[in-house]
Amino acid sequence: MAKCVNKENMVLPSLKEARLRRNFKTETIKYSVIDKYAHLGDGKTYYIYTYGCQGNEADSEIMAGILESIGYKKAMDPLDADLVLLNTCAVRENAEQRIWGVLGQLKGRKRNHPDMIIGICGCMPQEENATQKLIESYPFVDLIFGTHNRGNLPKLIYQAYFTKEKAVEVLSTEGNILEGAPKVRDNKYKAWVHIMYGCDEFCTYCIVPYTRGRERSRAKEDILAEVNELVKEGYKEITLLGQNVNAYGKDLGNDYTFGDLLRDIDKTGIERVRFTSPHPRDMDENAISAMAECKSVMPHIHFPVQSGNDRVLKIMNRKYTREEYLYKIKRLKEEIPGISITTDIIVGYPGETKEEFNDTLSLVEEAGFEGAFTFIYSKREGTPAAKMEDPISDSEKHEWFDELKKAVDKGYLRGTERFVGEVVEVLVDGESKSDLGMMSGYSKHNKLTHFKSNDKSLIGKIVKVKVKEAKSWFMIGDLVE
Ligand code: SAH
Ligand code: SF4
Ligand code: F3S
Repeated sequence: MAKCVNKENMVLPSLKEARLRRNFKTETIKYSVIDKYAHLGDGKTYYIYTYGCQGNEADSEIMAGILESIGYKKAMDPLDADLVLLNTCAVRENAEQRIWGVLGQLKGRKRNHPDMIIGICGCMPQEENATQKLIESYPFVDLIFGTHNRGNLPKLIYQAYFTKEKAVEVLSTEGNILEGAPKVRDNKYKAWVHIMYGCDEFCTYCIVPYTRGRERSRAKEDILAEVNELVKEGYKEITLLGQNVNAYGKDLGNDYTFGDLLRDIDKTGIERVRFTSPHPRDMDENAISAMAECKSVMPHIHFPVQSGNDRVLKIMNRKYTREEYLYKIKRLKEEIPGISITTDIIVGYPGETKEEFNDTLSLVEEAGFEGAFTFIYSKREGTPAAKMEDPISDSEKHEWFDELKKAVDKGYLRGTERFVGEVVEVLVDGESKSDLGMMSGYSKHNKLTHFKSNDKSLIGKIVKVKVKEAKSWFMIGDLVE
């Protein structure tokens, strides 16, 4: 594995290395910790700030598990913790801006608490320029590590405590698979389950293939063992994670695909299965029929389209056309009647014209999306799009963005209104944040649903709710039975 080591023994990231895809076999590494580190955290507390996607949330649960296994306890107040980790996202500029802001707050805190260890991990350190800035301008950061070496967390903490040197280890490898690490899950009823890591798509705007390495699938036995364990522990819902979940298995060199995995997971008896994100190009008939046949797979799909224009899709390297995308949607709707479809859209890709943007607007109507995460294109150093001419002004992009939001919001309302008068099944999360005396959870179609009750024993159960009112972002109903 190529390492870029400088004179202070720091292992620094290299985007050039991160871009490589060699032909080697992924290694599965079993997590273990040596005796020297086993009590490193005794009597100390930790706090993890998590930004970015569900992949990062799942990674934070592993880091929490590792920390608790070596004696750390979770701090009530992050500013009082002995160890603070920022698990970062690099997907857009504003995700990074937030991190620099939090670091500013922590700097002040460290003045009164000089023994506090501050660590940055996740996707941001995988970027050369971010790590350089962290080293040069943030001397109070003790620990910098990337997405490929969270299993080394005890060693890095040891180095920060006992050598008082800044511990910097950001591998720009294609990546291995870590199995058997302890986890502290945030929720007792809903769990994340990684089925694959990394991404080989190289959409031209996106930093993720550089920060997360090569596409690599977990062995189906490891996934099924994890799901079986979750069922035993009383979990009701799992969300299968990966940057391109329906590329599952392609790297394993057998014929077992995402659709087959869904069928096997269905047999474990887990009540609800969701997944994020599938890539439209890899959405095959086997996956669609598995979604239709498996009772546990929920009738909702987050299906990122990015653009409705063929030229833009092509230069984004999405590898499908508008027509092909719409065909997949048609097949999903035919096989899973009533399915709710949401998406991701980027506005203002370099060189996109108003006419091309209008194609995205019309696609929102035509596809009948019931929600979308919409983003203004953000330049990511090291990606091919960063070198492209970008003549459209920011203000114009914002106008397009507002127009798109209006179209998307109509879809949200259409998506909840269709349930008024119907009985939906809701997995209860807890008391509604906005209204005391109400409880809330998500329906099978992934609609946030509130209902009158203060019976906390319902938390973690699936209840029936008759919907009486629809708003854009939620539904309100009454408990049935
Ligand atoms: N793997 C997932 C998405 C991962 S990133 C997929 O391909 O579907 C989540 C979303 O962030 C993407 O779908 C895209 O819409 C958005 N995104 C990624 N890079 C971006 C960039 N440079 N600027 C703006 N949005 C971006
Ligand atoms: Fe990024 Fe494309 Fe991979 Fe999604 S599929 S993570 S958008 S490169
Ligand atoms: Fe962000 Fe990394 Fe996820 S860049 S979106 S945290 S894979």
